[in-house]
Amino acid sequence: MSVERRVLVINEVERSFLCDSEDTLANAIRNLGLTGTKIGCGAGQCGACNVILDGKLVRSCVRKMKTVKDHSSVITIEGLGTAKNLHPLQLSWIVNGGVQCGFCTPGFIVSSKALLDENPKPTRSDVRNWFQKNRNACRCTGYKHLVDAVMDAAAVMRGEMTMEDLMRKTGSSDEKVFGTRHIRPAALGKVLGVTDYGDDIAVKAEGAWHLAPVTSDVAHANILSIDYSEAEKAPGVRQIITAKDVKGINRITWPVSSIFSKADGFERPILCDTKVFRYGDVIALIAADTRKQAREAAKLVKVEYEVLPAYNNVLEAMAEDAVEIHPGIPNTFLYRPRYKGTDTREIFPEAAYVVETSTSTTMEPHMPIEPETGQAYIDKDGVLTIMYKTHGVYVIRGRIAAGLGLKPDKIRIIMNPTGGAFGYSLSPGYAALLGVAALATNHLVTMTMSYEEHQRYTGKRTGSHVNSRLACDKDGKIIGQEFHIALDKGCYSESADAAHRAINFAGWPYHVPNILSLSSFTFTNRPFSTAYRAPMATDVFMNYETLVDMMAEKIGMDPWDFRYKNVLREGQILPHGRRVANYNYTKLLDMAKPKYEELKKHAKENSTPEKQLGVGISIGGFTCSSVGDRAEVALELNPDGTVTNYNTWQDLGQGGDIGALAFTHEALRPLGLRPDQIRLVMSDTGQCPNTGYSAGSRSNLMCGNAILDAAGKLLEAMKKEDGTYRTYDEMVKDGIPTKYLGVTVRDPNPFSSGPDDVFDHNIGYAPIAQEASVGVFVTEVEVDVATGQVRVLDMHVFSDIGVITNYTSADGQAYGGMSHSIGYAFSEDFSDAKKHANLMGAGFPYIDVVPDGDHYTVTYLEEPRKDDPYGAAGGAESFQSAGHISLLNAVYNASGVRMTELPVTPDKVKKALDDKAKGIKPKYKKYDIGDFYGILDYLKANPAYKTK
Ligand code: FES
Ligand code: FES
Repeated sequence: MSVERRVLVINEVERSFLCDSEDTLANAIRNLGLTGTKIGCGAGQCGACNVILDGKLVRSCVRKMKTVKDHSSVITIEGLGTAKNLHPLQLSWIVNGGVQCGFCTPGFIVSSKALLDENPKPTRSDVRNWFQKNRNACRCTGYKHLVDAVMDAAAVMRGEMTMEDLMRKTGSSDEKVFGTRHIRPAALGKVLGVTDYGDDIAVKAEGAWHLAPVTSDVAHANILSIDYSEAEKAPGVRQIITAKDVKGINRITWPVSSIFSKADGFERPILCDTKVFRYGDVIALIAADTRKQAREAAKLVKVEYEVLPAYNNVLEAMAEDAVEIHPGIPNTFLYRPRYKGTDTREIFPEAAYVVETSTSTTMEPHMPIEPETGQAYIDKDGVLTIMYKTHGVYVIRGRIAAGLGLKPDKIRIIMNPTGGAFGYSLSPGYAALLGVAALATNHLVTMTMSYEEHQRYTGKRTGSHVNSRLACDKDGKIIGQEFHIALDKGCYSESADAAHRAINFAGWPYHVPNILSLSSFTFTNRPFSTAYRAPMATDVFMNYETLVDMMAEKIGMDPWDFRYKNVLREGQILPHGRRVANYNYTKLLDMAKPKYEELKKHAKENSTPEKQLGVGISIGGFTCSSVGDRAEVALELNPDGTVTNYNTWQDLGQGGDIGALAFTHEALRPLGLRPDQIRLVMSDTGQCPNTGYSAGSRSNLMCGNAILDAAGKLLEAMKKEDGTYRTYDEMVKDGIPTKYLGVTVRDPNPFSSGPDDVFDHNIGYAPIAQEASVGVFVTEVEVDVATGQVRVLDMHVFSDIGVITNYTSADGQAYGGMSHSIGYAFSEDFSDAKKHANLMGAGFPYIDVVPDGDHYTVTYLEEPRKDDPYGAAGGAESFQSAGHISLLNAVYNASGVRMTELPVTPDKVKKALDDKAKGIKPKYKKYDIGDFYGILDYLKANPAYKTK
């Protein structure tokens, strides 16, 4: 370490400070408290750390202080504007929906300032090229609105638009918030760079001990010994925490309730004790005075392993000679069957048309720009307090309590401002690590993982292998399906109950009278699979929407016509047993048709032998909420006449804040409150009732309904006989409570939707939610025959998520979801824990692969949903459910090669094109994932239980 006094002119003010010349400019700035400059990847791949150094945009995480001259000028986000005097870029970012999680926001705004300093009148293409060149990465927004934001800000800076014009784009007013583009309460702090995310809190947490994890560098092994004698002696080390220090059972407890499961959900250690199950499992934590000291000491820990065979996919883990990853539990530990109608073995021989296919998907990494980060401490009342990012403050508490040896009410979870998650933070592992360390040290601890550690430690989207068949009659009506999906659960079973989703979605948009479906979960030595927008639906639609396209071709029908003929109509029965209600596939297909025809015409007219154009279509969707789902929200009238909303609508960037505000403002309209008279206290188990987790497209309708309930109670209590409302003082004087709990329970009776509903796990009818969000995806691609490179020219979703609560938030989910689908289809992967541990290695989609402007749109069908708050359902999942397969259907339409294994990288496309050119027909490859009929027959003959 070589400490020096340095002088920089930061935001036009000369600052002198001490720093290690080997340290980065990013750390030097952040150590001065200027934490608006974020560190995401830490490797020059995301631009979150952008600053302007002597007039040039630089990524400060890879710029060493020793290369920065004294008296250099540095512009950070804090130097742009103030709350009362925003820079046009900051206001434009807020208004245009550029801020979701906001973690990338300072980097993008600083980058845009550097662009506009050089080029005050850029085209959209200039903006996109600039972001691409400077590697500005956003995982939330899908980029289109970021380009809008730059174009508007540039117009303001040129005097062609005013800040007031910009503000008017929201369409909101003091009287109207619901159903507008009202700006998000959390956005201001994020564009100013003053919102403290987890690692910003760490920088400012005086006296905190910094944790560094000791992680496994093998995928499967017994732990023979851990030698930390050298680490103990390292400078600054305070304590080393291993499994022996865990006071509870040292297990994440996520019970698998399915009757067919051989795993109980208690096999995941918090700190590994006897075995490691994947790269990146945490074996110990080093607590030291500084992060650097903790990291240096972690390198000195020696772990002796007995290395075991490691299985990288279900095919390997299902092999007869595979060892049990969790001894005593078969690797394939869970089956879910679905039998409907006549046995398909009688249907298929009679069918006029039969198609079959096999597809596979990869474990998609979530890739938020912010890695895992958080703090924990024991408060003055002896309560363990954990601050980190999560989709469910209450859910997490319950999953870690026994492992830590505490009762849930002795744990308080507070959500930190969060740099995106997309599902993975439903997992409780990181909270448990922080909790273990705080309990073992009885000290404030803080930990931020490197991006590589984050990638390896966190869960991923489920991977899958699927074999399937579809049968049609002579008129092109579907008469039967066989669907066998083997899901890769990775190393731990947490959330395995969701396996039913796979069979529930198989055939979901279509009327299929006869069904045999089977899903299974298998342990492998990969990250555990976890929630991710549209979990398992993406795997199912990947296969099913391929199958549907193949069938259309076989019959000689257009893919749109085949879908139109077979989609479910209101009152028909979904594959899982419930009736279609509240959403309308034929209307969506009608809406999509003009764009579909327009793109087909464009593709036909512009395709060349070298650059082949094609159009694809797919239908997707997802359920909203679940049977018996419950949410609570409290509203309190304050002495100054304002109202506080207490809830745990965890905001990971999707808009929990604006959702809570919009519903509260609308529900309390009789009081005439302005939006700024509604305060939000969110996502803290110490202050808020349990609104449930933010996942599964449930929050909008569940939290919304609970707010309506609470508002109704508050208004009722405030109402006077003459129809006016009591003030706070009058309420107190009359002895009337000022705080009311709103409660909603969803779909309490799963048997209510008709006589065909029979709740029976043995036949695979799962009582899943009646409510759903649905979408039709229409896409156009260009296939470069020489390279196999696929370019997405157009991507459109026609969506039904009910009435829109806030258009900016809904758009954010739509464009963000579609951009993930592009990555999922063509580049994203986590099959190699080394190669895929950083953003670029894992195939992160930058702006150049995502379409823009009119080529990238969402169109809403806003029909009010019965039973939903103001007719608004939820929508996040549907936007990422099936866009990927629309793109792959477009590749087939363009080039005649049917791509069935994700990710569809250029080398795979090129090989398929070359084979086709040589006249080599693709060989049908059925996966060896078990005896489909044999397992289904066995499960049917050995029912675990039956309920009616
Ligand atoms: S480029 Fe610096 S944090 Fe990613
Ligand atoms: S808003 Fe860009 S990463 Fe979240």
